[in-house]
Amino acid sequence: MDIIEQLELRREEARLGGGQRRIDAQHAKGKLTARERLLVLLDPDSFEEYDLYKTHRCTDFGMEDTKIPGDGVVTGWGTIDGRPVYVYAQDFTVFGGSLSETHAEKICKIMDMAMQNGVPVIGLNDSGGARIQEGVASLGGYAEVFWRNAQASGAIPQISMIMGPCAGGAVYSPAMTDFIFMVRDSSYMFVTGPDVVKTVTNEIVTAEELGGATTHTKKSSVADGAYENDIVALTELRRFYSFLPLSASEKPPVKPTLDPVDREDFSLDTLVPDNPNQPYDMRELILKIADEGDFFEIQKDHAGNILCGFIRMGGETVGVVANQPLVLAGCLDIDASRKAARFVRFCDSFNIPILSLVDVPGFLPGTSQEYGGIIKHGAKLLFAYAQATVPLVTVITRKAYGGAYDVMASKHIRADVNYTWPTAEIAVMGAKGAVEIIHRDEKDDPEKIAQRTKEYEDRFANPFIAAQRGFIDEVIRPHNTRRRVVRSFALLKRKTVSMPHKKHDNIPL
Ligand code: HXC
Repeated sequence: MDIIEQLELRREEARLGGGQRRIDAQHAKGKLTARERLLVLLDPDSFEEYDLYKTHRCTDFGMEDTKIPGDGVVTGWGTIDGRPVYVYAQDFTVFGGSLSETHAEKICKIMDMAMQNGVPVIGLNDSGGARIQEGVASLGGYAEVFWRNAQASGAIPQISMIMGPCAGGAVYSPAMTDFIFMVRDSSYMFVTGPDVVKTVTNEIVTAEELGGATTHTKKSSVADGAYENDIVALTELRRFYSFLPLSASEKPPVKPTLDPVDREDFSLDTLVPDNPNQPYDMRELILKIADEGDFFEIQKDHAGNILCGFIRMGGETVGVVANQPLVLAGCLDIDASRKAARFVRFCDSFNIPILSLVDVPGFLPGTSQEYGGIIKHGAKLLFAYAQATVPLVTVITRKAYGGAYDVMASKHIRADVNYTWPTAEIAVMGAKGAVEIIHRDEKDDPEKIAQRTKEYEDRFANPFIAAQRGFIDEVIRPHNTRRRVVRSFALLKRKTVSMPHKKHDNIPL
């Protein structure tokens, strides 16, 4: 056999991972193998694999007799729409994708190269956690990965796709990355599994209830999105990647569009209902001003009172943060503040301009919010906006009341361009609440209260008091929103801001 044939044979062997039986078992669960996943994620013929032959060094529990080339993780780089990305895909057919010392070394190698070369890392996670036979060597391996996740944070985008069980150490690396996506019915994330939970807390819970995609996209908000199966998940991941820059030193990619930047949409002139207490769908505004109606939403199933996600305008990526009047009247609460704060931080780290669409009646009142620390959590969003140095454009469509007015990218916390629609109401609070306080002595006279409420509305339920002070740059016609926002962002491309010297900030975590 010549030397080239020998090489091919070795490669073939290595690519079989844990063997055909385990590959069949993986398929029987509706899951693709690590290599099949990379075929879907990356451009054809673009994957270059490293460390295909690397094996573990463990000699306990008979492990010296079971060495599988690659040691349970496929690593390397490839391209998505022609743009480079470093990848690792854990191979569940090899020791359940569990992380050994050498498995960790392979991940660390591509993370180091990604940092050096300013290229993102995508991890496809499918792992039973620490390789039990290796003990502390495996824990050390995890910590090496965690340390790199922290170093890379804010320097290069890091994305995790959870595609199988992820227990113990296997959840903490994803938790330190920028975005986590999951596959429905086949992926789980928990610190300890259902058996340990039963022993320690007596709770009886299934893996799905404890750490399935529904739990993490709706309740815990650990995950940013979930998809029906491996193929849909990886295809959506390709779409997601197209919005992001390669590193903090670069701008996001530009995707040419045939959608005219000055496209008017007259249906927006009637989007806000006449009755200020009637909700409307803010998502409609996002879809109507985005290039080709394309919106990649983050945490769609969590904190529906705020919408976050990526669109393009004139081909350029824009991060959108928008109050949603359809849910809790668009109030800011703990969940919404945390969701939006993290999104704003990501955009600011990676030079993605932020468009804020505002219709917010205030912070959600109540004991559950106060006991849960709404003050600290609301401050996260305020802090994130106040620190952002990327271009910030704000459009107030209706309500901007109280502290929430300040928080939602107001002029005062250094948004660059602040527009309102003619329907905007910028005030300390709604007319009814205001009148009940300042005309408390007339509370038993409904006629007088109605008259006072009308007076308050006439005076404050409009954008012009704020505009007279220069807090608002212009009151725009809704149908022109896309054109006005695109023009603003185009001009703000050259924005530079210098920050005071410091080691780092102390965001109210
Ligand atoms: C070594 C492992 C393994 C592990 C699974 N395998 N987990 N080998 N170390 N952690 C092996 C199994 O022995 C089996 O080998 C193969 O992978 C497939 O596993 P199955 O159990 O047959 O698959 P399934 O029924 O789908 O169950 C998957 C699973 C389960 C839910 C992940 O295997 C499991 O509970 N594993 C242990 C999880 C765990 O406790 N991990 C340690 C967490 S502690 P064969 O040869 O039969 O194919 C931790 C600490 C780190 O991670 C902390 C850092 C901060």
